[in-house]
Amino acid sequence: MLLKDKVCVVVGAASLRSIGFGVVDLFVEHGAKVVAVDLAMNDATLADMKTAIEARLQRSVLLDGLQCDISQPEACDQLVRDVVQRHGAIDCLVNSAGIVKSTSLLDISFQELDLMLQVNLKGAFHLCQSVLKAFVAQRSGNIVNVSSLAAQRGGGLVGGAHYAASKGGVLSLTRTIAREFGHLGIRANAICPAMIDTPMLDGLSPERLNDIVEAIPLKRIGTTRELAGACLFLASELSGFVTGATIDVNGGTHIH
Ligand SMILES: NC(=O)c1ccc[n+]([C@@H]2O[C@H](COP(=O)([O-])OP(=O)(O)OC[C@H]3O[C@@H](n4cnc5c(N)ncnc54)[C@H](O)[C@@H]3O)[C@@H](O)[C@H]2O)c1
Repeated sequence: MLLKDKVCVVVGAASLRSIGFGVVDLFVEHGAKVVAVDLAMNDATLADMKTAIEARLQRSVLLDGLQCDISQPEACDQLVRDVVQRHGAIDCLVNSAGIVKSTSLLDISFQELDLMLQVNLKGAFHLCQSVLKAFVAQRSGNIVNVSSLAAQRGGGLVGGAHYAASKGGVLSLTRTIAREFGHLGIRANAICPAMIDTPMLDGLSPERLNDIVEAIPLKRIGTTRELAGACLFLASELSGFVTGATIDVNGGTHIH
C-alpha cells in the first residue's frame, strides 16, 4: 500500500470513465483516504463510484465526495476547509478537472476562450492556491496537475489553441509551485496524457481515431488505470525527490 491513510483530494472524478475516477480507484486500492471532487459530484455519483470500487476490490471501502466548481476561488477555499475539517489535513491534490474544445483558432469566440481559461487554467490556479495555504501551514504537501500533450506539441489531437494554451499555463504554474514551495517540502509535478480512453475522446470519428492510433508507437489508446499509475508514483514517496517534473503518458505519441 503506497498511500496508506494519506488524505488525497482528486478533482475531476465524477464520471466512472474519467481519468479522475481511475485515480480515485487506484488510490483507494493503495490505502488512501480519498475525497472525490467534481462540478458534477452528487450522492448518486459517489454511491456508484463506491460500488464500482468495492466490486473490483472485493471489500468495503470508505470514499468521501464533494461538489466544487474550481473556476470559483471561494469554492476552492471552501473545499479545502471542508476537507481539512473532515480529515484533519490534506496530503495530496490531484487536479484532473478540465474541459476541451477543438474549435480552430480563428473561430474561437471571446466567450469560448474565457470559459476554457476560466476552468483549465484559472481553476487549476485557484485550486493550487487554496490547497497551498493548507500545505504551507502543514509544512508538507504534494500536487499533481493533469496537463496535456497539447501543451507540448503545439495543439492537441483533440483540443484547439485555447485548450493547448490553458494546459501550457498549467505546466508553468506547476513548475513555479515546485520552485517556490520546495524549501517547505512541498512537491508539484505535472502529467501530460494523450489518447486516454475517456469521454474526452467521444467526439472523434472512428476513422480519425484509427488514423491517430496508427501514429502511436504503442498502437493503441491508453487506459485511465495507466494514467492513474503515473499519479500514484507522483503522489507516493517513490517519487520523493521528484518535483517540477512533467511525466508523459502518451504511448510514445510525442517523444522528445
Ligand atoms: N483523455 C485524454 O486523452 C486526455 C488527454 C490530455 C489531457 N487530458 C486531461 O485529463 C483531464 C481529465 O480528463 P478526462 O479525459 O478524464 O475527461 P472527463 O471529461 O471525463 O473528466 C473531466 C472532469 O472535469 C470535470 N469538470 C469540468 N469543469 C469543472 C469545474 N469547473 N469544476 C470541477 N470539475 C470540473 C467534469 O465534470 C469531468 O468529470 C482533463 O484535464 C483533460 O484536459 C485528457
